[in-house]
Amino acid sequence: MKIDIISAVPESIEEYLNHSIIKIAREKGILNVKLHNLHDFSTNKWRRIDDYPFGGEPGMIIQCEPVFSCIEKLQEQTTYDEIIYLTPDGEVFNQQIANELSLKNNLILLAGHYKGIDQRVRDRLITREISIGDYVLTGGELPALVLMDAIVRLLPGVIGDVGSALNDSFQDDLLESPIYTRPAIFRDMEVPKVLLSGNHKEIEEWKYTQSLEKTKKLRKDLLEK
Ligand code: ADE
Repeated sequence: MKIDIISAVPESIEEYLNHSIIKIAREKGILNVKLHNLHDFSTNKWRRIDDYPFGGEPGMIIQCEPVFSCIEKLQEQTTYDEIIYLTPDGEVFNQQIANELSLKNNLILLAGHYKGIDQRVRDRLITREISIGDYVLTGGELPALVLMDAIVRLLPGVIGDVGSALNDSFQDDLLESPIYTRPAIFRDMEVPKVLLSGNHKEIEEWKYTQSLEKTKKLRKDLLEK
């Protein structure tokens, strides 16, 4: 999979690419990530990419020109399955969207900054608008990383144990059951006996009941779905 991330502050993303799951996927050649600095596509000597909004609202808006130039240049080399704009007024990201996007080959993630981008970019270039939740962040860089992490861990070969990603919370609209490792007794706390029983059927039943109880308690909305 190829992911091109466009940002006004790509430096803020760079370090993360060299750690954890993203690093593993890149090293295995499963993921090719490229960062693109919007300021490189500015047409003025100050490398500015933003301007005041028409209509007199506060805040600054990313202009059309640098975004169009950047995306059109990328499109000369690659046909993209989705050009995604990270924005608090997009559809709310979830596991199903991560699953869907993990099946694509080429993605652009456009991180907004300041007050947002000119609507004409959204109208003409963007194919999907995604929010990571109902709160406003300073920019789309963290949301772009959130998306990329959630997508990349689903790519075949990235996580050694395929079952691990499939068992995640949300894959079946249930939260994951509690998990334990050695020692079986720590201070006065014992691991549930069933997990030590070796009885796989009973263990699966226990996990399912735990998942259900936890979901009922914390995320009733998932069960109602
Ligand atoms: N940019 C700022 N806030 C955001 C959010 N919640 N989701 C996606 N992009 C954003």
